[in-house]
Amino acid sequence: MEQLAGKTAVITGAASGIGLAMARRFGAEGMNLVVADIEPAPLAEAVQALEAKGYPVESFDIDVRELAQIQALAAAANERFGNVHLLCNNAGVGAGGAVAGVDDMERWRWTIDINLWGVIYGCKTFLPAMIEHGEGAHIVNTASMAGHYASAFMGAYNVSKFGVVALSETMSREMQVAGANVGVSVLCPAFVQTGIADSARNLPAELYEEPTEESTAMKQIIDALVAGGIQADVVAAAVCDAVINDDFWILTHEDAKPAITGRANDIVTNVNPLPNFGF
Ligand SMILES: NC(=O)c1ccc[n+]([C@@H]2O[C@H](COP(=O)([O-])OP(=O)(O)OC[C@H]3O[C@@H](n4cnc5c(N)ncnc54)[C@H](O)[C@@H]3O)[C@@H](O)[C@H]2O)c1
Repeated sequence: MEQLAGKTAVITGAASGIGLAMARRFGAEGMNLVVADIEPAPLAEAVQALEAKGYPVESFDIDVRELAQIQALAAAANERFGNVHLLCNNAGVGAGGAVAGVDDMERWRWTIDINLWGVIYGCKTFLPAMIEHGEGAHIVNTASMAGHYASAFMGAYNVSKFGVVALSETMSREMQVAGANVGVSVLCPAFVQTGIADSARNLPAELYEEPTEESTAMKQIIDALVAGGIQADVVAAAVCDAVINDDFWILTHEDAKPAITGRANDIVTNVNPLPNFGF
């Protein structure tokens, strides 16, 4: 999609981090913005900041786990701006999920419902109209390097992100088979300085657990990795380039690429997974 100005972008998880950076970037490109998030106060702040720059903005409170809410988001976007041209299925949470540990299975469900089902719902809801209007459209799904390399203690997250990569790859091939004017990209960053390490802020009250020594130690490790990550604006710039150039893979971390090639090589040479953190 070479021309962005005057077109309409819908971004989930837009109140913070990568989603907010994408909203800033696509606003600067002259797009109409529909920003959606589960956190009303940060979303209102984001809208204020985006409007202050003169960007046309519609906001929508949403829980991406609910299909009906995604359908309502699509209706609201259509009503305000007409056809949608860019969808960024970006809302996500960074809860871990040891397979061997005592993690509650409902926490696994919460992570997979947001990170994977939220993206499936977004694609299934917006795609038919994008194909139909034929003006040119693009979907960006936020996965992660965790969609390519499954490190220990991150089971639910890894499963959700491998799923997003598979969904996106399937959709990209289908759009070509159909000859549809819809591009697809999958965003696969390693660590980015955002609020991801504090994802538990959105955990439903019934899933809250008192921190343990083990969970606190794990959180400290993740905090440090996220703090050492790249800036969200750099990620948003890479997303924007991929949309304009119709690039499928968005790999923002050069130094993480060996994790992908190394894993592929391990698979075809029958090397067992190592216990290390891979990227
Ligand atoms: N930060 C990283 O290091 C990193 C690395 C790889 C991938 N990602 C992915 O990037 C995406 C954005 O995360 P971020 O890093 O900007 O974190 P973030 O916490 O700063 O932003 C995530 C946003 O999603 C929203 N959200 C959470 N649950 C929601 C729900 N059920 N419905 C609607 N909105 C919801 C949050 O309120 C928040 O505004 C996620 O999919 C995440 O998995 C992040």
